[in-house]
Amino acid sequence: MGVGIRTHELRKVFTTPPPLAAAGARFAGGGGGGLFKKKKDAKPNPNIVALDGVSLEVAPGEIFGLLGPNGAGKSTTVGILTTRVRPTSGEAYIGPYDAWKQQVDAKRLIGVVQQRPNLDFSLTAREILLFHAAYYGISGAERHERANRLLDQFQLTPRADDMTRGFSGGMMQRLSVARALMHDPQVLFLDEPSTGLDPQTRLLLWGIVREYNESGKTILLTTHNMEEADTMCHRVAIVDHGKVIALGTPAELKASIPGGYLVQLKLSAVPESLIEKLKSLSGVTEVRATGNSVDIYAGRGGSLIGEVAAAAAENSADLHDVHIAEPSLENLFLHHTGRSLRQ
Ligand SMILES: Nc1ncnc2c1ncn2[C@@H]1O[C@H](COP(=O)(O)OP(=O)(O)O)[C@@H](O)[C@H]1O
Ligand SMILES: [Mg+2]
Repeated sequence: MGVGIRTHELRKVFTTPPPLAAAGARFAGGGGGGLFKKKKDAKPNPNIVALDGVSLEVAPGEIFGLLGPNGAGKSTTVGILTTRVRPTSGEAYIGPYDAWKQQVDAKRLIGVVQQRPNLDFSLTAREILLFHAAYYGISGAERHERANRLLDQFQLTPRADDMTRGFSGGMMQRLSVARALMHDPQVLFLDEPSTGLDPQTRLLLWGIVREYNESGKTILLTTHNMEEADTMCHRVAIVDHGKVIALGTPAELKASIPGGYLVQLKLSAVPESLIEKLKSLSGVTEVRATGNSVDIYAGRGGSLIGEVAAAAAENSADLHDVHIAEPSLENLFLHHTGRSLRQ
């Protein structure tokens, strides 16, 4: 049986400035707060609300995504669930175990890839995997077999016996994931796993994560990349300022935006009568014309094309090009927060 994850009204208020490692993230709700760059800017007791009542339920065997911009509280959520950060209030469970009060039991069930690689540079890739497995009490023969398999899977075999000191960021990231898989955890946490990875390595990683999930394992990944959330996750929680602002399957989330489709046309001419006709089509929320191009915002995409083509013909305009952009998580984030995920 797989193991699920649950949080209830999780809150975390930091009362010391973030360490440099967490910089880049801004203070939640601290309008214009910015970073603590100079000491004189630091207030004696900052109250940084990193999590403001996060309740989540991740089913056993699910790939669940936390999607949000920098500083949203993703790593703090992962930190609490992986027993590294003490919650200010609320509950966090790995299966039946309270992540803070039953740390040893919770830890046995989880594998963690933190946002920043934390590998021992004085060890070889293989040693890192073997020592990790030994720590989890895995027998010698089994350790070597697993290390070989994972090194191979992550395409690290040629560098297996090199010290990690000279590894590229992508190699370290692959090794971090391999290490997290060495003890075959029931729940795998991946905090921004593909940041800084080249597209090929990203695909390799996604494939391995999917396969791992197919063996019944639960995966919680954080990302600010909507494509990753969209392609990898069964369900996604969009977080902003320490709160869950939307939750559902990628398809549900995208369908929840009014007029989420964008249909772009290029025509030989754009008479006013055509614009009026397009505006009157069912599901169309907005029509914008610039030169011979028309952008139609609508609650449907493909099914609109026949009517659009007929309207163009009726108004003596030749349709040269049609492009349909589906609703995206980016649009959704924009819709809920007024800000782009990339900001
Ligand atoms: N150890 C810490 N001490 C103080 N503040 C922190 C610490 N870690 C994170 N924060 C702050 O908590 C908020 C949420 O950060 P984080 O969970 O790292 O966000 P994300 O992972 O979504 O980028 C940010 O405002 C960040 O500066
Ligand atoms: Mg983070």
